[in-house]
Amino acid sequence: MTDDLAALRDETLAKVEAAGDLAALDAVRVAALGKNGAVTALMKGLGAVAPEQRKERGAALNALKDAIAAALDARRAALEDAALDARLAAERLDITLPPRPAPEGLIHPISRTIEEIVAIFGAMGFTVAEGPDIEDDWLNFGALNIPAHHPARQDHDTFYMPGRTPEGREKVLRTHTSPVQIRAMLNRPPPIRVIAPGRTYRADHDATHSPMFHQVEGLAIGRDITLAHLKGCIVDFLRAFFGIPDLPVRFRSSYFPFTEPSMEVDIGWNRRTGELGRGGDWLEILGSGMVHPKVLEAGGVDHTEWQGFAFGMGIERVAMLKHGITDLRPFYESDIRWLRATGFRPEDVASLATGLN
Ligand code: DAH
Repeated sequence: MTDDLAALRDETLAKVEAAGDLAALDAVRVAALGKNGAVTALMKGLGAVAPEQRKERGAALNALKDAIAAALDARRAALEDAALDARLAAERLDITLPPRPAPEGLIHPISRTIEEIVAIFGAMGFTVAEGPDIEDDWLNFGALNIPAHHPARQDHDTFYMPGRTPEGREKVLRTHTSPVQIRAMLNRPPPIRVIAPGRTYRADHDATHSPMFHQVEGLAIGRDITLAHLKGCIVDFLRAFFGIPDLPVRFRSSYFPFTEPSMEVDIGWNRRTGELGRGGDWLEILGSGMVHPKVLEAGGVDHTEWQGFAFGMGIERVAMLKHGITDLRPFYESDIRWLRATGFRPEDVASLATGLN
């Protein structure tokens, strides 16, 4: 190799070694081997070399080019390795670190109680029906055989809403879930088996009453539904819900405008300890009865062909009894400490097992 080529080689190889990153290295490559590079220029000049020296000069140029290309490759590999090492070091994962705590939510006891009630009645073939919180006063009262001057209207301290329905009726916050019975009948032909959990509203507020609370309504309509079916369903439900197979259940004659006959249902408990079961005392738990013929008619159901039973129950009340919760107010206070102590883990589905045979 002639001195000029040796000088170019040493100079270029020194630049290759000095290139600190891939971009700098590429600049060295272009300066030497690119279209206008130093080596390329020498190659192009080969034609002007005297024929007897051309072969030797050509071989020397090729050797120079190969040496530079090999140095470029080696340097590129080294730079890429270094870049990868730097990235691996920067992105290193310490898999021995404990995971960061994930925020976890709990299910509110009202929600869980509704889920439990739905699971048990679901196993008996009931589906969930819904109605609006802002109800039409005909569905909340009139259709349920509670006419305008009926004393039951005074019992329900009703919140009236401004405005009227498209039919010109007054709007109320529903005082019970019973209007969903009418909606269910108007929405589908019998036979019917529905339960309707939801919010209800009455204008009283003290330690044991909240202006907003929850009820669940049940309705079963068929050609041959009798009081025996009502008793069977309610007894099975209460024993499954409270998880007490021999829970005493008593049906006590009562009055509701929308059922005839009507019964209040009591369960056994111990008044002193608050424990449910064979404690010798009775605790009222829900209202029920055979659907009044006028209510069937309001729902568009022919009472000469169909009959059925209905019941209504307070959700807070059964939740408090089941879980030993003594104060109603924290249900609505969103106090995270109470929710942590009283809520249910979402993955705990064992309590949704119906316990029905
Ligand atoms: N609607 C009643 C209440 O709010 C509860 C009730 C009683 C519902 C008897 C019924 C029933 O369906 O048959 O107190």
